[in-house]
Amino acid sequence: MAILNHHYLKLKAGYLFPEIARRVKAFADAHPGADIIRLGIGDVTEPLPLACRQAMIKAVEEMGSRDTFKGYGPEQGYAWLREKIAQQDFQSRGCDIGAEEIFVSDGSKCDTGNILDIFGKDNVIAVTDPVYPVYVDTNVMAGHTGEANEGGEYSGLVYLPLTAENNFTAPIPSQKVDLIYLCFPNNPTGATATKEHLQAWVDYARARGSIIFFDAAYEAFITDPSLPHSIYEIDGARDCAIEFRSFSKNAGFTGTRCAFTVVPRTLKAQTPDGAAAELWPLWNRRQSTKFNGVSYVVQRGAEAVYSPEGQAQVKDLIQFYLENARLIRDELAALGWAVYGGVNAPYVWVKTPQNLSSWDFFDLLLDKAKVVGTPGSGFGAAGEGYFRISAFNSREKVQEAMARLTQVFGA
Ligand code: MLT
Repeated sequence: MAILNHHYLKLKAGYLFPEIARRVKAFADAHPGADIIRLGIGDVTEPLPLACRQAMIKAVEEMGSRDTFKGYGPEQGYAWLREKIAQQDFQSRGCDIGAEEIFVSDGSKCDTGNILDIFGKDNVIAVTDPVYPVYVDTNVMAGHTGEANEGGEYSGLVYLPLTAENNFTAPIPSQKVDLIYLCFPNNPTGATATKEHLQAWVDYARARGSIIFFDAAYEAFITDPSLPHSIYEIDGARDCAIEFRSFSKNAGFTGTRCAFTVVPRTLKAQTPDGAAAELWPLWNRRQSTKFNGVSYVVQRGAEAVYSPEGQAQVKDLIQFYLENARLIRDELAALGWAVYGGVNAPYVWVKTPQNLSSWDFFDLLLDKAKVVGTPGSGFGAAGEGYFRISAFNSREKVQEAMARLTQVFGA
């Protein structure tokens, strides 16, 4: 009999969002016609920016003529897109990042998992708690952890608690860790990292030869001009960080699929004989072998994000969701609940009322208000007693959801 990857058997329950979808479906089946409002998964609802749609329509037309038809593209992405990304997302902010260091992909979720392909098995890995579950589950699948305990913590991982006391910023560990996942603006807490905080992480990583995986999927939601959008705004980050970016949350590409990962040429890790070797050629090789690139049509859509019209339309989209987040914050704070995030991020992180467990609050909210959120404990043991509410929905749905919460939980 063929042998399966037994590390998958260590995974806890289902992946968080399918598990929520399963529970919501069960509720909907039991309550036909219930008007359920979904503020759970961070999936966008508003239409794609016009500039992106027009660019994709034009690209589809090009595919209809032999002269302009495109077959396989470069696995790393088309140069015209990589150059715009390098210039407008990085060089314009003073980051020393070149086009060849950008690898266009179909998603940051995939890339944050796939990146493990180019690292060895014996790294000490640190994740925040709560954390985007993909970072943990992909390490479990790759056999980098032991079993999970009852709270869902896997042995072999170093957990860095994000708490109200530390302002939901990742504490620097006292021990040496080799790979560190940081996500700012943070999913799920909506917290942000200052330049000083990231500088402390970069200094830590450089002193110990560690690599930071910096997930900046939500950088477009930063409104505070003092906050860094990229880890490469921090001195020394080229030598210790890989950054993940996405068009999902800024331009609404969750269903269209386009993202990119930045691997600086100066980034090195250790070979078995103790030498230092560049990681860029490994990621380039990995992508060339296992990936055929993002479709031409979609890359043209992503390119349009960088046009003046695209920039203005993306800004409007971000402002729309941030206004939703403000509404959520204000309404929940008015209920007397402790509310975090939602200012430079599309997620609002709430302390559950009456010390309810995260899943009990999920069930209560679904049952009484027909509103879906995400239980904090689904993001890790330290998320227990918290709840995430996503600002990704229409204004009407957000207003209606908040009105229902006020009715159910108001005095
Ligand atoms: C979330 O709700 O956390 C997001 O949908 C995660 C993702 O983008 O995969």
